[in-house]
Amino acid sequence: MKTPKLTRRQALAATSAGALGAMATWSPLQAFDIASGNHGQLAATGGQPVRMAAWPEWPIWDPSAEEDVLTMLRSGKWWRGKGESVEEFEKMYAELLGAKGCVATASGTTALATALQVAGVDAGDEVLVSPYTFIATYNVIFLNKALPVFVDTDPETFLMNTDKIEERITDRTTAILPVHIFGLPVDMNGVNKVAEKHQLPVVEDACQAWLAEYDGKKAGTLGNMGCFSFQNSKNLPAGEGGAIVSNDEALLDKCWSLHNCGRPYGVVQGKTPIPTRGTNRRMQQIQAITLMSQMKRIKTDADVRLENAQYLDAKLAEIPGIIPYKLAKGATRSAYHLYPFRYKKEAFHGADRSKFIRALQAEGIPCYSGYGKQNKYEIIDEALNSRGYQRLYSKERLDRWREENVLPGNDQLCEEAVCFFQNMLLGTRKDMDDIVNAISKIYENRNQL
Ligand SMILES: Cc1ncc(COP(=O)(O)O)c(C=O)c1O
Repeated sequence: MKTPKLTRRQALAATSAGALGAMATWSPLQAFDIASGNHGQLAATGGQPVRMAAWPEWPIWDPSAEEDVLTMLRSGKWWRGKGESVEEFEKMYAELLGAKGCVATASGTTALATALQVAGVDAGDEVLVSPYTFIATYNVIFLNKALPVFVDTDPETFLMNTDKIEERITDRTTAILPVHIFGLPVDMNGVNKVAEKHQLPVVEDACQAWLAEYDGKKAGTLGNMGCFSFQNSKNLPAGEGGAIVSNDEALLDKCWSLHNCGRPYGVVQGKTPIPTRGTNRRMQQIQAITLMSQMKRIKTDADVRLENAQYLDAKLAEIPGIIPYKLAKGATRSAYHLYPFRYKKEAFHGADRSKFIRALQAEGIPCYSGYGKQNKYEIIDEALNSRGYQRLYSKERLDRWREENVLPGNDQLCEEAVCFFQNMLLGTRKDMDDIVNAISKIYENRNQL
């Protein structure tokens, strides 16, 4: 996320022009004139950018955690077997989400891999999953030697279209893996209804959805298990880290056992000291200490993002060709790991999204195009053509998978999405006006794209 380098004079000019913009009554079709002081020349074609100031930094270190980090380092209790911090974090996180319990893991990927294994996903099984997601979501299905079966995306919500789940179920379907992408909660009543009917466990990929809410409950607590990521860019960051939450103690015990080399724990009893095929997916003490300090700001940050997002929702909806995300039925609050909208090129004289994105970046507004059509990526073919998959699935099944791999909703979204990053939503009202003004300016000057 680079911001244009400024001379002192340009920075001053940008600040005072911005202050003027904040005072004026905003109107989508003239705001760019006020903010940029430039009438009609896009920054991408040599005009003055709407914004030249930097955006809020992320992550933000809390110096008050330094003593705890040093004490832990000096004690030599660096892993959870000796120290207490990971357990302390697990309790705090479960409480934050209103879940019965939590198992902290090394990453979001290892949280998902563990939860899927606990859900019973085995070699030769099928898992229903959203294609509009980070690669790790379906890679963990491959890791368990199962087949990801993509359920089409609703382009309006950016999420799994729950009306399309049932038609993808086969006698090998073992679990449903909806993804609360960007922090937008999936219609979980829709997911759970199908899951109950077919007795399938639901693992939520809530890796981008800390404190998002559906029906007043926190995302990640609505299925059988919910998985989170605390990677460096995330709204709750620790460099790396993850967690599984659940309201089912037996499932939590199994997660614990599997993430700790398969050693028995709680209800996981066995005749040998190592009863399950687990591996080491444990969180380190330093991750837990970092997370507990970051948790001090998580609710306030979430409120700031929400307020700014709601402001953008209203303002962006007024600009022709810009369609903000729609919350799914029953969703009450997004976590805004990214703020997404769709770009309709018809309203911009048919200019490709890539041109719009470059123009917006040139105006000083960082943005990107979201996820690609991953159901068509080579990685899928490589897996399906591999020796292992050829042994596990019949030719007929793999042929049918290819025939059914037609996802018009997802294709449309992949061509239209544009996203802002969560740290931008921690900015001021004026920062949000810069976003709106930049898009308005591009709309007004769309003939230059
Ligand atoms: C939707 C989603 N699922 C899974 C993951 C994997 O988490 P991690 O990077 O912590 O392994 C991420 C991380 O970006 C994610 O965004």
